[in-house]
Amino acid sequence: MNGTKPRRAYVETYGCQMNISDGELMEGVLEGEGYEIVSSAEEADVILVNTCAIREHAERRVLGRVGQLSGLKRTNPDLVIGVTGCMAQRLGEGLLEKAPHVDLVMGPDGYRTLPEALARLRPLSGNARRLSVLHLTLDENYQGLEQRRRSTVGAWVPIQRGCDHRCTFCIVPYVRGAEKNRDPQEILGEIRRIADEGITEVTLLGQTVNSYVSGDWPFPRLLQAVARVDGIRRVRYTSPHPNDVTPDLVDVMAMEEAVCEHVHLPVQSGNDRTLKRMVRRYTVDSFMEKVAMIRQAMPKVALSTDIIVGFPGESESEFQDTLDLVREVRFDEAFTYKYSPREGTPATRLPPGQFVSDAEGQDRLERLIEVTRGIQAEINRAEVGTVVELLLERTGKHEGTVLGRTRRSKAVVVPGEASDAGRYVSALLTSTTGATFVAERLEAGKPLAGVS
Ligand code: SAH
Ligand code: F3S
Repeated sequence: MNGTKPRRAYVETYGCQMNISDGELMEGVLEGEGYEIVSSAEEADVILVNTCAIREHAERRVLGRVGQLSGLKRTNPDLVIGVTGCMAQRLGEGLLEKAPHVDLVMGPDGYRTLPEALARLRPLSGNARRLSVLHLTLDENYQGLEQRRRSTVGAWVPIQRGCDHRCTFCIVPYVRGAEKNRDPQEILGEIRRIADEGITEVTLLGQTVNSYVSGDWPFPRLLQAVARVDGIRRVRYTSPHPNDVTPDLVDVMAMEEAVCEHVHLPVQSGNDRTLKRMVRRYTVDSFMEKVAMIRQAMPKVALSTDIIVGFPGESESEFQDTLDLVREVRFDEAFTYKYSPREGTPATRLPPGQFVSDAEGQDRLERLIEVTRGIQAEINRAEVGTVVELLLERTGKHEGTVLGRTRRSKAVVVPGEASDAGRYVSALLTSTTGATFVAERLEAGKPLAGVS
């Protein structure tokens, strides 16, 4: 950088794993241009807040945080504040008005041009210093863009971006555009490099990750090839759409040792009329058939899900159908949400009289959580006393502990230290809080045969 001090950039990410992965990608792009990536906003010349638009609550939090970060401009007037990601795409230039200290608004397809955008902003000052990059394009295939991975244990690898579904509650297709799938050889090349660096776990990411197809590479073929990359011991993927759970996919999962026994399968509702109005394109029966198919091939599989309550027009008895489904499937974990209207999505155009009141929505959410947590605790209590293989990830809350994950994606605390990150150990589960476990380490090194 011509002997000058490198610019320092700080990226703060909100939202899903795809966003976290995008945050790493922005860091990679900036680092490639000579930026130094720093870990606090106070040290930075450029702050990027990478946002989520999925629910209103997520957006409000970000606006508050941007307001707070703006205060740093008092001591550092040259500071550039950018808002990137889904909320930036959704609010567009309106965000520049809403948040006057924001200099740059950039949607998810703009990251390649990040250094250029920052270079354009730098000489400008005052009100002139504003830029928005908001095009969504099928041409942006993210080819050649690599992440600056923060973890040395597991890597998230986006294989697909955007979504071709139009679930009527969901903003994603409008802020991330149509489905685009990466080239399989590029994905495999990236995963081989990751494995060479010593990372042993990969999670393939996409909005409907199992609808991935590129030429004669449907998702099961890609999953199998990833599972066979030397050095990769655990493979996960998220989130699949239930409709694209096929016998081929289930076969690969059951056959390939590296593919973990966990599927996150968003159901959203347990009522056919609601599913139809959500345009989820499956029924309760066809969802249950997918669950049965998965469990038949992998009896030890853990299932998690996403559920929305209070979708416009959802009656009390339709909500009860969701409780029934949850009791029947017995998910290991459920992420539960109260419907949040997102401007521009079809569900917001349903007759106003159909909207479920906030209080009713909240009440349904609490009742659902009670049931899902109860089931989760029952399942987990039954696992106490078993031996599991853990991949240790990072230090725990308490000194002398580390957090690990089982193949079934259960979080476990064991004695250990920071240098344990990346190790596989066998552990005996000794107790559970309901959601997470405490365990004793049995031995370091290779997993025991036949443990989950
Ligand atoms: N297919 C995506 C879904 C992303 S959104 C994936 O990769 O998982 C994650 C979850 O947020 C959805 O499954 C849904 O349960 C929830 N969600 C989406 N839009 C919502 C809204 N408007 N209100 C409440 N919850 C919503
Ligand atoms: Fe959203 Fe449905 Fe796609 S939940 S991301 S529109 S599959």
